[in-house]
Amino acid sequence: MKVTYHGHSVVTILTDDGTNLLFDPFINGHEACDLVVDTVEADYILLTHAHSDHFGDTIEIAKRTGATVVTTVEIAEYLSSKDVEAHGMQPGGSFNFEFGRVKLTPAIHGSSLQLNPDDEMPTTLGLASGILVSINNKTIYHVGDTALYSDMKLIGEMNDINLAFVPIGDNFTMGPKDAAVATKWLKAKQAVPIHYNTFPMIEQDPNDYIDLLDDGVGKVLTIGDFIEL
Ligand code: NI
Ligand code: MN
Repeated sequence: MKVTYHGHSVVTILTDDGTNLLFDPFINGHEACDLVVDTVEADYILLTHAHSDHFGDTIEIAKRTGATVVTTVEIAEYLSSKDVEAHGMQPGGSFNFEFGRVKLTPAIHGSSLQLNPDDEMPTTLGLASGILVSINNKTIYHVGDTALYSDMKLIGEMNDINLAFVPIGDNFTMGPKDAAVATKWLKAKQAVPIHYNTFPMIEQDPNDYIDLLDDGVGKVLTIGDFIEL
């Protein structure tokens, strides 16, 4: 399978049987992203939480492609109200889809979205999550937005993680140092930093993260770069 980074937390997986998975499709308003809302392919959209830099263009893409959105129950209920096909889960739960198994993990982070342009405040939509995906005995972990938390050790012990996408931007998520501890606890064989340099507040040198990892584990992907698993 081909796993491609598209900037911020946007990741795609093209499986060997041709299924397109799209994670956290923040495209409009994300200038560096190499995807286009009107053409991006998706059979499933996997959404870690409701913040606009993750929820992004979910509704538009799902409506055009007919993709099923896999996310937390509260976001799934909101999407269903917008006539989008959605599969609700909660952290700790897993489910076998046609392409493979998805498990949501905890994330210490918020999850809210401005539902209507006139709303004065965003609406909270349940918990944030990370997303573990196992396809043909390969496990990819999209950590989502989160603080460092010690149950990451358990996630590392219970799963054989081939590739992890780990936020390093700081301020809203782990910074480079915490992200490096997380990556070690997760025992990820390969790890790619995400959620940095999109906005001034999350500017980071990704090598500050890579240099803290064991040799060969960390890999900076430029936008459009991919890893074959
Ligand atoms: Ni967030
Ligand atoms: Mn975010």
